[in-house]
Amino acid sequence: MKLLVTGGTGYIGSHTCVALMDQGYSLIILDNFSNSKSSVLENLRKLNDNFIFYNIDVTDKKAVEQVFSKHEIDGVIHFAGYKSVEESVVEPLKYYLNNVVSTMILVKVCKKYNVNKFVFSSSATVYGENKVPFKEEMELLPTTNPYGETKAMSERILMDVAKADPNFSVSILRYFNPVGAHESGLIGENTKGIPNNIMPYISKVAKGELDKLKIYGNDYPTPDGTGVRDYIHVMDLAEGHVAAYKHLSKGVHIYNLGTGKGTSVLELVQAFEKANGMKVPYEIVERRPGDIAVCYADVSKAEKELGWKAKRNLIDMCRDAWRFESSI
Ligand code: NAD
Ligand code: UFG
Repeated sequence: MKLLVTGGTGYIGSHTCVALMDQGYSLIILDNFSNSKSSVLENLRKLNDNFIFYNIDVTDKKAVEQVFSKHEIDGVIHFAGYKSVEESVVEPLKYYLNNVVSTMILVKVCKKYNVNKFVFSSSATVYGENKVPFKEEMELLPTTNPYGETKAMSERILMDVAKADPNFSVSILRYFNPVGAHESGLIGENTKGIPNNIMPYISKVAKGELDKLKIYGNDYPTPDGTGVRDYIHVMDLAEGHVAAYKHLSKGVHIYNLGTGKGTSVLELVQAFEKANGMKVPYEIVERRPGDIAVCYADVSKAEKELGWKAKRNLIDMCRDAWRFESSI
């Protein structure tokens, strides 16, 4: 079975590539290194070398077509895209052009080459301020940023394509908060510059590269006042993709990939300190604009239909995140 993985040198993509190769899939990985390093490839090869890599921009239709014409591709997993909420507010066109156009081009080429299996990286951000736990059938509420809109639009496009073409099988995966790294410590989340997301920030504070964690608000309506999220180990998320690919069936199927458990920022800091035996200095600052108080998944659909459930706990997530961070 040969799968095409876009964005396969990125954080979630690289971990999913390992999980897929471990299950015997051979891969064609596309990435343009806009948010990843070529050194990821060397480390991926140490884990499993059953892949071919192309340095290609997925919005370049000609280049994508060349790959499809060279290889017999059974299905596509589409991770490539930009993901900074903050940047998307400042540069909305960059996000719409890359995230929405790449999805349209890939689907168009898939249809031309009769590739009918497609897995798409969406985000819990599409739920907006719905009531927790978020369920797949909820009406999507407007997100507060262009990044979220690119995910909602891409979902819509995939639904329309599947409606028009009964042979098309799509799995839309809505990720909650992926953290942690592969147990080997060879691949992980390698953010450029100062991280926006909490786990890489905590890791850099632990490493001494950043002074202290800024906790964005302790006046939310949550048990300790800090924001609550559904953190999921990136290897559980990766295995969720394998399950989703194996269960692809005609039409569009949407799944939340999370743990179903909410953890506050303070609880996460405590877990990191416990897992790694170190202190993480922090201060409470103003709320971050656009943040919601609580976000966690109802994960019963993925469990029932995909037979998949997250297995790793918060301590595993913190330990593996630190193992990777301390190795780079
Ligand atoms: P990432 O930035 O680490 O990985 C994305 C990869 O895609 C990078 O390697 C980048 O170089 C590549 N890329 C971007 N645009 C490209 C293009 N036009 N052509 C070829 N390659 C391109 O991000 P990630 O955290 O691994 O996220 C993967 C996907 O999951 C993204 O679509 C993201 O929006 C989505 N997602 C991420 C999170 C999260 O918290 N990390 C949450 C929900 C959804
Ligand atoms: N936080 C801090 N300090 C920081 C960073 C974050 O206190 O330095 C807090 C946030 O306020 C929030 C929690 O930690 O309560 C998690 O924040 P992240 O930035 O790590 O993650 P978000 O939940 O804001 O967003 C992430 C991705 C989005 C995705 C969303 C899906 O960045 O792309 O999860 O749930 F859409």
